[in-house]
Amino acid sequence: MSITFISEHNVFKLDGKDYTYLIGVYDNRYLLTLYYGKKIEIVDPSRLMVTRELGFSPSPHEDFYRRDRSLDTMLQECPTFGYGDFRIPSIMIEQENGSRCLDLRYKSYEFLSDKPLISQMPSLKEDDHCDSLKITLKDEVSGVEVDLFYNVYQNRNVLTRHLKIRNTGKEKLIISKAMSCSFDLRDNQFDLLQLIGTHCEERHIEVTPLRHGISKIESRRCTSSHMLNPFMALCRKDVNEYNGEVYGINLVYSGNYEGTIEVDQRHTTRVQMGIGSFDFAWPLMANEVFETPEVVMVYSPNGLNAMSQTFHDLYNDCLLKKHYHHPIVVNNWEATYFDFNEEKLTKLIESAKGLGIETFVLDDGWFAKRNNDESSLGDWVVNTQKLPNGLEKIADICKKNKLGFGLWFEPEMISEESSLYKNHPEYAIRISNRPHLYSRCQLVLDLSKKEVCDYIIKAISDVVDNLPITYIKWDFNRNITETQNKQLCHKYVLGLYYVLDAITSKYPNIMIEGCSGGGGRFDPAMLYYTPQIWTSDDTDAIERLYIQYGTSIVYPPTSMVGHVSVTPNHQTGRVTPFKTRGIVAMSANFGYELNPQVLSEAEQEMVKAQTKEYQHLRKVIYNSSFYRLRSPYKGNDCAWSFVSKNKKEVYVMYVRILNAATNEFDYLLLKGLDEKKIYLDVANNVKYTGSELMNVGLLLPRHPYDFNGIMYHFKEVRE
Ligand code: GLA
Repeated sequence: MSITFISEHNVFKLDGKDYTYLIGVYDNRYLLTLYYGKKIEIVDPSRLMVTRELGFSPSPHEDFYRRDRSLDTMLQECPTFGYGDFRIPSIMIEQENGSRCLDLRYKSYEFLSDKPLISQMPSLKEDDHCDSLKITLKDEVSGVEVDLFYNVYQNRNVLTRHLKIRNTGKEKLIISKAMSCSFDLRDNQFDLLQLIGTHCEERHIEVTPLRHGISKIESRRCTSSHMLNPFMALCRKDVNEYNGEVYGINLVYSGNYEGTIEVDQRHTTRVQMGIGSFDFAWPLMANEVFETPEVVMVYSPNGLNAMSQTFHDLYNDCLLKKHYHHPIVVNNWEATYFDFNEEKLTKLIESAKGLGIETFVLDDGWFAKRNNDESSLGDWVVNTQKLPNGLEKIADICKKNKLGFGLWFEPEMISEESSLYKNHPEYAIRISNRPHLYSRCQLVLDLSKKEVCDYIIKAISDVVDNLPITYIKWDFNRNITETQNKQLCHKYVLGLYYVLDAITSKYPNIMIEGCSGGGGRFDPAMLYYTPQIWTSDDTDAIERLYIQYGTSIVYPPTSMVGHVSVTPNHQTGRVTPFKTRGIVAMSANFGYELNPQVLSEAEQEMVKAQTKEYQHLRKVIYNSSFYRLRSPYKGNDCAWSFVSKNKKEVYVMYVRILNAATNEFDYLLLKGLDEKKIYLDVANNVKYTGSELMNVGLLLPRHPYDFNGIMYHFKEVRE
């Protein structure tokens, strides 16, 4: 059992693989974070419930003579507003008399036999060693009851949390803030790592020193966003990839969110994450319950790479659905954009034959009158002008050429120029007395309405039921504005999960690739439904190094999609070697974003070699640990590797960015191998010991030009 209640001290002890989390019930009243850090045994944890007097910090009403007792100076698990703690609250609830004051006191606890599901939202599955605890707090005056859920993955460095808020009183309450987790650390000696970005530049790494006051990441776009991923990590000052303490937090949610850190007057650090409280208000009538999404907390005593591996293994084992085939795709977007017809597609598909490509994905432009991005979203019927013989014909050609058939949808959107809008203008999100606001010429369907969700499910089913579709690309190309009320964003997200739940249950074998103008909605909740996500609209191999490196901080390479596109690259104009483009794309779910007809014979031969290599590589990737070896953020090159879990096989991907005339001796040190094993560099037929590769390293060759990419494949050999 990884959770124990030490009754003589009133302390809950939660033990994961390398961490301990201690929660104390102070004076039978308040729930305190006593400790979160490296795994420990402790004689008397109650001595961590130390209180000291601090000027201007008020005491609860029964503590008139105890000036040392103040919620303002205690390290808390569920801080509220108005009861003495001036730091950020994790819950704010307005009562009918206008008061937002809450005195949440300890009521009870329960060990749960199963990890609880969260209603209407995805959450992580438990593994064989997961224990769950519920602690209930209550405010007697308002009748607010809060259940705090803790799930400890005993063999991992993972703790997940969420809340349930219940109105046991008679009044109407309004929740304006409900964080999925809040905890206080005893010092502030951290840097803050966050994943920042924009369209075509998602999840770049930014590290800043933690300062006093509030640091915050959030999205107000009703999606998890390109700009700030719902992830943050507190890193000890000496941290690097392989050393130092890191606390990482990731929210399983796809809408407005916030992650907030406050360093207070005593230099303690409060950490919170949950649904965004910006423009949020949720009425809670008597007997109603509000549930928050799940937050995933990972502790690493051994640096950033170990934190990432913990997230990767957890998501591979307990989040991403496993039974999908991840095919090698050719997608026609960058090959044709909107400009295609049956003849062009036929040639493109036929030219993919024999190259080892497994699925053709028909991107935007196949429906209604869609010849540019100004119309037709919502009308999911074939564009007969372009495809007079229907999608059936395209599916047929795919079948003849032994390819699966995939189709692009943007189900959550509506164009004003569409039959759907003519018949149902009320389906679009808008403020009734104001004109529409456009983004990419389109509007967003109001998924907070059940009839709209049901329309989407039916529209997709009508297409999918009549075609041998094996793959869907699910896009989302604008952010949400004109939110008429403060519940809309959250209701929208719940509607989205309802739709995705229906589609994935109805078509369990169709692989859905998530997408949002590239990687604008790359979060664990989307990954639950769409187990691979188009990582960025930027297909330039060099820019992808930064994007994929940053994304790997939290998300496993098995969840990313990477495609080889033509050069000059459409986003940057850069010309990179075909081989380098292949190596970068192969570090994710692999494919091509081009018309194979435009490739030279030599390039077509390289495609055959790449797909053959990838068919083996993907088996390794799906059962491997990922190691970041050199950061493009820190130098002129980038390297990472996949080491199979049994350490028998290794792939190393290396890219040198700009070349230099000097012929330096550059040894790349590998990680995670078995010191004693003998590894064969398959292409060059050279043997090394594991200890040599990790301590002497691999001598890199002289680079012939800029952007040189090299992939090494090592296999264990027996002497
Ligand atoms: C988004 C996607 C692209 C492509 C286009 C089609 O930008 O990220 O991959 O599907 O939409 O309009």
